[in-house]
Amino acid sequence: MKALVLSGGTGTRLRPLSYSMPKQLIPVANKPVLEHVLENIRDLGVVEIGMIVGDRAPEITRAIGDGSRFGARITYITQDEPLGLAHCVTLAEEFLGDEDFVMYLGDNLLPDGIADIAREFATGRPEAQVVVCKVFDPSSFGVAELDEHGAVLRLVEKPHEPKSDLALIGVYFFTQAIHEAVAAIGPSARGELEITDAIQWLVGRGAEVKATEYGGYWKDTGSVDDVLEGNRQLLDRLRPAVLGEIDHASVLIGPVIVEPGARVLRSTIEGPAIIGAGTVVADSRVGEHTSLGRDCVLSGTSIGNSVVLDGSTLSGIPELRDSLIGRSVSIGAADRGTCHRLVLGDHTHVRIAA
Ligand code: TTP
Repeated sequence: MKALVLSGGTGTRLRPLSYSMPKQLIPVANKPVLEHVLENIRDLGVVEIGMIVGDRAPEITRAIGDGSRFGARITYITQDEPLGLAHCVTLAEEFLGDEDFVMYLGDNLLPDGIADIAREFATGRPEAQVVVCKVFDPSSFGVAELDEHGAVLRLVEKPHEPKSDLALIGVYFFTQAIHEAVAAIGPSARGELEITDAIQWLVGRGAEVKATEYGGYWKDTGSVDDVLEGNRQLLDRLRPAVLGEIDHASVLIGPVIVEPGARVLRSTIEGPAIIGAGTVVADSRVGEHTSLGRDCVLSGTSIGNSVVLDGSTLSGIPELRDSLIGRSVSIGAADRGTCHRLVLGDHTHVRIAA
Protein backbone atom coordinates (compact mmCIF):
# COMPACT_ATOMS: atom_id res chain seq x y z
CA MET A 1 0.00 0.00 0.00
CA LYS A 2 1.07 3.58 -0.69
CA ALA A 3 -0.03 6.83 0.96
CA LEU A 4 -1.12 10.16 -0.47
CA VAL A 5 -0.89 13.08 1.96
CA LEU A 6 -2.64 16.33 1.04
CA SER A 7 -0.64 19.35 2.15
CA GLY A 8 -1.70 22.00 -0.34
CA GLY A 9 -4.81 24.13 0.13
CA THR A 10 -5.29 27.73 1.15
CA GLY A 11 -5.83 27.65 4.91
CA THR A 12 -8.17 30.67 4.79
CA ARG A 13 -9.65 29.84 8.19
CA LEU A 14 -6.23 29.90 9.82
CA ARG A 15 -5.28 33.39 8.73
CA PRO A 16 -3.16 35.24 9.63
CA LEU A 17 -0.98 32.27 10.65
CA SER A 18 -1.42 30.64 7.26
CA TYR A 19 0.00 33.75 5.56
CA SER A 20 3.42 32.98 6.97
CA MET A 21 3.36 29.19 7.26
CA PRO A 22 1.45 26.28 5.72
CA LYS A 23 -1.24 25.25 8.17
CA GLN A 24 0.01 21.64 8.16
CA LEU A 25 3.16 22.87 9.91
CA ILE A 26 1.35 24.54 12.82
CA PRO A 27 2.56 22.72 15.90
CA VAL A 28 0.19 20.84 18.16
CA ALA A 29 1.86 19.77 21.43
CA ASN A 30 5.04 21.24 19.89
CA LYS A 31 5.03 19.03 16.80
CA PRO A 32 3.67 20.02 13.37
CA VAL A 33 0.32 18.39 12.57
CA LEU A 34 1.95 16.95 9.43
CA GLU A 35 4.51 15.06 11.54
CA HIS A 36 1.68 13.51 13.58
CA VAL A 37 0.17 12.45 10.22
CA LEU A 38 3.42 10.92 8.94
CA GLU A 39 3.93 9.01 12.21
CA ASN A 40 0.49 7.41 11.81
CA ILE A 41 1.36 6.41 8.24
CA ARG A 42 4.72 5.02 9.36
CA ASP A 43 2.86 2.90 11.94
CA LEU A 44 1.06 1.17 9.03
CA GLY A 45 4.41 0.13 7.58
CA VAL A 46 3.78 2.25 4.45
CA VAL A 47 7.04 3.56 3.00
CA GLU A 48 6.04 5.15 -0.32
CA ILE A 49 4.34 8.46 0.38
CA GLY A 50 3.18 10.99 -2.20
CA MET A 51 2.78 14.48 -0.76
CA ILE A 52 0.61 17.04 -2.54
CA VAL A 53 2.02 20.53 -2.01
CA GLY A 54 0.87 23.91 -3.27
CA ASP A 55 2.61 27.28 -3.22
CA ARG A 56 3.96 26.46 0.26
CA ALA A 57 6.08 23.61 -1.10
CA PRO A 58 9.48 25.07 -0.08
CA GLU A 59 8.56 25.32 3.62
CA ILE A 60 7.05 21.84 3.67
CA THR A 61 10.00 20.20 1.93
CA ARG A 62 12.41 22.03 4.25
CA ALA A 63 10.52 20.85 7.36
CA ILE A 64 9.78 17.27 6.27
CA GLY A 65 12.64 16.42 3.91
CA ASP A 66 12.85 13.17 1.99
CA GLY A 67 10.89 11.20 4.59
CA SER A 68 13.83 9.19 5.93
CA ARG A 69 13.11 10.61 9.40
CA PHE A 70 9.83 8.69 9.22
CA GLY A 71 11.32 5.58 7.64
CA ALA A 72 9.62 6.52 4.34
CA ARG A 73 10.34 7.89 0.87
CA ILE A 74 8.39 11.03 0.07
CA THR A 75 7.63 12.06 -3.50
CA TYR A 76 6.46 15.68 -3.67
CA ILE A 77 3.70 16.37 -6.20
CA THR A 78 2.91 19.99 -7.01
CA GLN A 79 -0.66 21.24 -7.25
CA ASP A 80 -0.68 24.67 -8.91
CA GLU A 81 -4.11 25.58 -7.55
CA PRO A 82 -6.19 23.96 -4.79
CA LEU A 83 -8.78 22.46 -7.13
CA GLY A 84 -10.09 19.85 -4.72
CA LEU A 85 -9.29 16.55 -3.03
CA ALA A 86 -10.18 14.48 -6.11
CA HIS A 87 -7.91 16.74 -8.18
CA CYS A 88 -5.07 15.66 -5.88
CA VAL A 89 -5.77 12.02 -6.77
CA THR A 90 -5.62 12.82 -10.51
CA LEU A 91 -2.24 14.53 -10.02
CA ALA A 92 -0.92 11.51 -8.14
CA GLU A 93 -2.13 8.88 -10.60
CA GLU A 94 1.31 8.13 -12.00
CA PHE A 95 2.86 7.93 -8.52
CA LEU A 96 0.10 5.65 -7.22
CA GLY A 97 0.02 3.29 -10.21
CA ASP A 98 -2.35 0.37 -9.59
CA GLU A 99 -1.63 0.10 -5.85
CA ASP A 100 -4.10 0.47 -3.00
CA PHE A 101 -3.50 3.65 -1.03
CA VAL A 102 -4.52 5.61 2.01
CA MET A 103 -5.33 9.25 1.33
CA TYR A 104 -4.75 11.40 4.42
CA LEU A 105 -5.47 15.12 4.79
CA GLY A 106 -2.32 16.78 6.13
CA ASP A 107 -4.21 18.90 8.66
CA ASN A 108 -6.09 16.04 10.36
CA LEU A 109 -5.12 14.89 13.81
CA LEU A 110 -5.84 11.28 14.86
CA PRO A 111 -3.65 10.56 17.89
CA ASP A 112 -5.14 7.07 18.30
CA GLY A 113 -3.83 6.06 14.88
CA ILE A 114 -5.50 4.38 11.91
CA ALA A 115 -4.04 0.88 12.12
CA ASP A 116 -7.37 -0.87 12.88
CA ILE A 117 -9.11 0.68 9.87
CA ALA A 118 -6.16 -0.08 7.60
CA ARG A 119 -6.39 -3.74 8.69
CA GLU A 120 -10.13 -3.79 8.04
CA PHE A 121 -9.57 -2.36 4.53
CA ALA A 122 -6.79 -4.84 3.76
CA THR A 123 -8.98 -7.76 4.89
CA GLY A 124 -12.28 -6.85 3.19
CA ARG A 125 -10.71 -4.87 0.34
CA PRO A 126 -13.79 -2.96 -0.80
CA GLU A 127 -13.20 -0.62 -3.76
CA ALA A 128 -13.18 2.27 -1.29
CA GLN A 129 -13.42 2.64 2.46
CA VAL A 130 -14.24 5.94 4.12
CA VAL A 131 -13.96 6.81 7.80
CA VAL A 132 -16.75 8.67 9.57
CA CYS A 133 -17.34 10.34 12.92
CA LYS A 134 -20.57 11.54 14.50
CA VAL A 135 -20.57 15.34 14.65
CA PHE A 136 -23.00 17.85 16.12
CA ASP A 137 -23.27 19.96 12.94
CA PRO A 138 -22.53 17.87 9.84
CA SER A 139 -23.38 20.67 7.36
CA SER A 140 -19.76 21.76 6.95
CA PHE A 141 -18.54 18.22 6.14
CA GLY A 142 -19.02 15.50 3.56
CA VAL A 143 -21.92 13.50 5.02
CA ALA A 144 -22.46 9.74 4.62
CA GLU A 145 -25.73 7.82 4.57
CA LEU A 146 -25.15 4.14 5.33
CA ASP A 147 -27.13 0.92 5.32
CA GLU A 148 -27.24 -1.30 8.40
CA HIS A 149 -24.03 -3.14 7.35
CA GLY A 150 -21.95 0.05 7.00
CA ALA A 151 -22.16 0.16 3.20
CA VAL A 152 -22.30 3.69 1.81
CA LEU A 153 -25.62 4.51 0.13
CA ARG A 154 -24.98 8.20 -0.50
CA LEU A 155 -22.37 10.87 0.13
CA VAL A 156 -23.18 14.57 0.02
CA GLU A 157 -20.64 17.39 0.33
CA LYS A 158 -21.63 20.09 2.86
CA PRO A 159 -25.41 19.47 2.70
CA HIS A 160 -27.84 22.19 3.84
CA GLU A 161 -30.07 19.51 5.35
CA PRO A 162 -27.86 16.59 6.37
CA LYS A 163 -29.59 13.19 6.33
CA SER A 164 -27.19 11.74 8.92
CA ASP A 165 -24.76 12.98 11.57
CA LEU A 166 -21.85 10.97 10.10
CA ALA A 167 -19.14 13.26 8.77
CA LEU A 168 -16.35 11.99 6.54
CA ILE A 169 -13.02 12.54 8.26
CA GLY A 170 -9.69 13.10 6.53
CA VAL A 171 -8.64 9.46 5.98
CA TYR A 172 -9.75 7.40 2.97
CA PHE A 173 -8.67 4.00 1.68
CA PHE A 174 -8.83 3.37 -2.05
CA THR A 175 -8.13 0.68 -4.60
CA GLN A 176 -7.21 1.69 -8.15
CA ALA A 177 -10.96 1.92 -8.91
CA ILE A 178 -10.85 5.54 -7.69
CA HIS A 179 -8.79 6.64 -10.72
CA GLU A 180 -11.64 6.00 -13.15
CA ALA A 181 -14.01 7.80 -10.76
CA VAL A 182 -11.92 10.99 -10.41
CA ALA A 183 -11.55 11.10 -14.19
CA ALA A 184 -15.31 10.79 -14.66
CA ILE A 185 -16.54 13.63 -12.44
CA GLY A 186 -16.69 17.37 -13.14
CA PRO A 187 -16.15 20.33 -10.80
CA SER A 188 -18.76 21.09 -8.13
CA ALA A 189 -20.60 24.39 -7.68
CA ARG A 190 -17.59 25.70 -5.72
CA GLY A 191 -15.30 24.80 -8.61
CA GLU A 192 -13.53 21.85 -6.94
CA LEU A 193 -13.22 18.21 -7.92
CA GLU A 194 -14.86 16.70 -4.83
CA ILE A 195 -13.71 13.34 -3.51
CA THR A 196 -17.27 12.78 -2.27
CA ASP A 197 -18.49 13.04 -5.90
CA ALA A 198 -15.86 10.52 -7.01
CA ILE A 199 -16.83 8.07 -4.26
CA GLN A 200 -20.53 8.64 -5.03
CA TRP A 201 -19.72 7.81 -8.67
CA LEU A 202 -18.30 4.48 -7.47
CA VAL A 203 -21.43 3.82 -5.38
CA GLY A 204 -23.57 4.59 -8.45
CA ARG A 205 -21.63 2.00 -10.48
CA GLY A 206 -22.38 -0.67 -7.88
CA ALA A 207 -18.90 -0.69 -6.35
CA GLU A 208 -18.47 -1.77 -2.75
CA VAL A 209 -17.86 1.34 -0.66
CA LYS A 210 -17.68 0.82 3.08
CA ALA A 211 -17.69 3.24 5.98
CA THR A 212 -16.15 2.67 9.37
CA GLU A 213 -16.98 4.80 12.37
CA TYR A 214 -13.77 5.98 13.98
CA GLY A 215 -13.53 5.11 17.66
CA GLY A 216 -10.66 7.40 18.61
CA TYR A 217 -10.17 11.14 18.82
CA TRP A 218 -10.25 13.09 15.55
CA LYS A 219 -9.82 16.77 14.84
CA ASP A 220 -9.52 18.63 11.55
CA THR A 221 -7.21 21.45 12.65
CA GLY A 222 -8.70 23.92 10.16
CA SER A 223 -9.46 26.77 12.59
CA VAL A 224 -7.89 28.38 15.66
CA ASP A 225 -10.32 26.70 18.06
CA ASP A 226 -9.63 23.33 16.42
CA VAL A 227 -5.87 23.78 16.88
CA LEU A 228 -6.37 24.65 20.56
CA GLU A 229 -8.67 21.65 21.06
CA GLY A 230 -6.22 19.29 19.34
CA ASN A 231 -3.46 20.71 21.51
CA ARG A 232 -5.52 20.05 24.67
CA GLN A 233 -6.17 16.46 23.61
CA LEU A 234 -2.51 15.73 22.91
CA LEU A 235 -1.37 17.39 26.12
CA ASP A 236 -3.84 15.24 28.06
CA ARG A 237 -1.75 12.25 26.87
CA LEU A 238 1.55 13.86 27.83
CA ARG A 239 4.32 11.87 29.48
CA PRO A 240 6.15 14.30 31.77
CA ALA A 241 9.89 14.89 31.34
CA VAL A 242 12.00 17.62 32.83
CA LEU A 243 15.16 18.04 30.76
CA GLY A 244 15.63 21.76 31.31
CA GLU A 245 16.31 23.80 34.44
CA ILE A 246 13.77 24.58 37.17
CA ASP A 247 14.89 26.89 39.99
CA HIS A 248 13.94 26.38 43.64
CA ALA A 249 11.39 29.17 43.58
CA SER A 250 9.35 27.47 40.83
CA VAL A 251 6.57 24.90 41.11
CA LEU A 252 5.48 22.29 38.56
CA ILE A 253 1.98 20.88 39.03
CA GLY A 254 0.71 17.92 36.98
CA PRO A 255 2.35 16.52 33.83
CA VAL A 256 4.87 18.95 32.34
CA ILE A 257 7.57 18.64 29.71
CA VAL A 258 10.45 21.05 30.04
CA GLU A 259 12.58 20.57 26.94
CA PRO A 260 16.40 20.74 26.96
CA GLY A 261 17.85 24.21 27.49
CA ALA A 262 14.53 25.65 28.76
CA ARG A 263 14.66 27.55 32.08
CA VAL A 264 11.83 28.08 34.55
CA LEU A 265 12.53 30.81 37.10
CA ARG A 266 10.26 31.93 39.98
CA SER A 267 7.26 30.58 38.07
CA THR A 268 4.39 28.11 38.33
CA ILE A 269 3.70 25.65 35.53
CA GLU A 270 0.37 23.91 35.80
CA GLY A 271 0.31 20.92 33.48
CA PRO A 272 -0.42 19.43 31.17
CA ALA A 273 1.96 21.86 29.49
CA ILE A 274 5.14 21.92 27.40
CA ILE A 275 7.94 24.45 27.68
CA GLY A 276 9.94 24.30 24.43
CA ALA A 277 13.72 24.00 24.13
CA GLY A 278 15.61 27.18 24.97
CA THR A 279 12.50 28.98 26.27
CA VAL A 280 12.78 31.10 29.42
CA VAL A 281 9.77 31.44 31.75
CA ALA A 282 10.40 33.97 34.51
CA ASP A 283 8.03 35.38 37.17
CA SER A 284 5.13 33.86 35.23
CA ARG A 285 2.34 31.35 35.42
CA VAL A 286 1.80 28.86 32.61
CA GLY A 287 -1.64 27.32 33.03
CA GLU A 288 -3.14 24.04 31.82
CA HIS A 289 -3.08 23.02 28.17
CA THR A 290 -0.41 25.41 27.05
CA SER A 291 2.39 24.62 24.59
CA LEU A 292 5.25 27.09 24.37
CA GLY A 293 7.55 26.64 21.37
CA ARG A 294 11.34 26.97 21.23
CA ASP A 295 13.30 30.05 22.27
CA CYS A 296 10.36 32.02 23.67
CA VAL A 297 10.62 34.43 26.60
CA LEU A 298 7.80 34.84 29.11
CA SER A 299 8.20 37.34 31.90
CA GLY A 300 5.62 38.59 34.36
CA THR A 301 2.92 36.88 32.33
CA SER A 302 0.05 34.48 32.99
CA ILE A 303 -1.08 32.30 30.09
CA GLY A 304 -3.41 29.29 29.76
CA ASN A 305 -5.05 27.09 27.12
CA SER A 306 -2.79 28.51 24.43
CA VAL A 307 -0.23 27.65 21.79
CA VAL A 308 2.78 29.93 21.31
CA LEU A 309 5.11 29.31 18.39
CA ASP A 310 8.90 29.64 18.35
CA GLY A 311 10.76 32.79 19.25
CA SER A 312 7.89 34.81 20.74
CA THR A 313 8.23 37.20 23.69
CA LEU A 314 5.42 37.90 26.15
CA SER A 315 6.08 40.29 28.98
CA GLY A 316 3.87 41.89 31.62
CA ILE A 317 0.63 40.31 30.36
CA PRO A 318 -1.65 39.58 33.33
CA GLU A 319 -4.18 37.13 31.78
CA LEU A 320 -3.79 35.62 28.33
CA ARG A 321 -6.14 32.75 27.47
CA ASP A 322 -7.31 30.68 24.49
CA SER A 323 -4.66 32.20 22.22
CA LEU A 324 -2.72 31.01 19.20
CA ILE A 325 0.39 33.13 18.79
CA GLY A 326 2.70 32.87 15.79
CA ARG A 327 6.46 32.92 15.43
CA SER A 328 8.61 35.77 16.77
CA VAL A 329 5.59 37.69 18.04
CA SER A 330 6.18 40.32 20.70
CA ILE A 331 3.45 41.17 23.22
CA GLY A 332 4.28 43.56 26.01
CA ALA A 333 2.75 46.01 28.45
CA ALA A 334 2.06 49.53 27.14
CA ASP A 335 4.82 52.06 27.83
CA ARG A 336 2.50 54.67 29.22
CA GLY A 337 -1.10 55.18 30.28
CA THR A 338 -3.82 52.61 29.83
CA CYS A 339 -4.18 52.65 26.06
CA HIS A 340 -3.52 49.61 23.90
CA ARG A 341 -1.02 49.77 21.07
CA LEU A 342 -1.39 47.12 18.39
CA VAL A 343 0.59 46.35 15.26
CA LEU A 344 -1.41 43.61 13.55
CA GLY A 345 -1.17 41.87 10.21
CA ASP A 346 -4.13 41.31 7.87
CA HIS A 347 -6.97 39.12 9.13
CA THR A 348 -5.69 39.14 12.72
CA HIS A 349 -8.20 38.49 15.54
CA VAL A 350 -7.78 40.28 18.88
CA ARG A 351 -10.10 40.23 21.92
CA ILE A 352 -9.37 42.84 24.58
CA ALA A 353 -10.90 42.56 28.06
CA ALA A 354 -12.78 45.76 28.88
P1 TTP B 1 -9.33 22.10 3.46
O1 TTP B 1 -9.10 22.40 4.91
O2 TTP B 1 -10.65 21.61 3.08
O3 TTP B 1 -9.02 23.39 2.56
P2 TTP B 1 -8.04 24.59 2.75
O4 TTP B 1 -6.65 24.15 3.09
O5 TTP B 1 -8.13 25.38 1.49
O6 TTP B 1 -8.57 25.43 4.03
P3 TTP B 1 -9.63 26.62 4.14
O7 TTP B 1 -10.97 25.98 3.93
O8 TTP B 1 -9.45 27.16 5.55
O9 TTP B 1 -9.27 27.65 3.10
O10 TTP B 1 -8.24 21.05 2.97
C1 TTP B 1 -8.02 19.84 3.68
C2 TTP B 1 -6.60 19.37 3.45
O11 TTP B 1 -6.39 19.06 2.08
C3 TTP B 1 -5.54 20.40 3.81
O12 TTP B 1 -4.41 19.71 4.32
C4 TTP B 1 -5.21 21.03 2.48
C5 TTP B 1 -5.39 19.89 1.50
N1 TTP B 1 -5.84 20.28 0.17
C6 TTP B 1 -4.98 20.10 -0.92
O13 TTP B 1 -3.84 19.63 -0.76
N2 TTP B 1 -5.43 20.44 -2.15
C7 TTP B 1 -6.68 20.93 -2.39
O14 TTP B 1 -7.04 21.20 -3.55
C8 TTP B 1 -7.55 21.12 -1.25
C9 TTP B 1 -8.93 21.67 -1.43
C10 TTP B 1 -7.08 20.78 -0.01
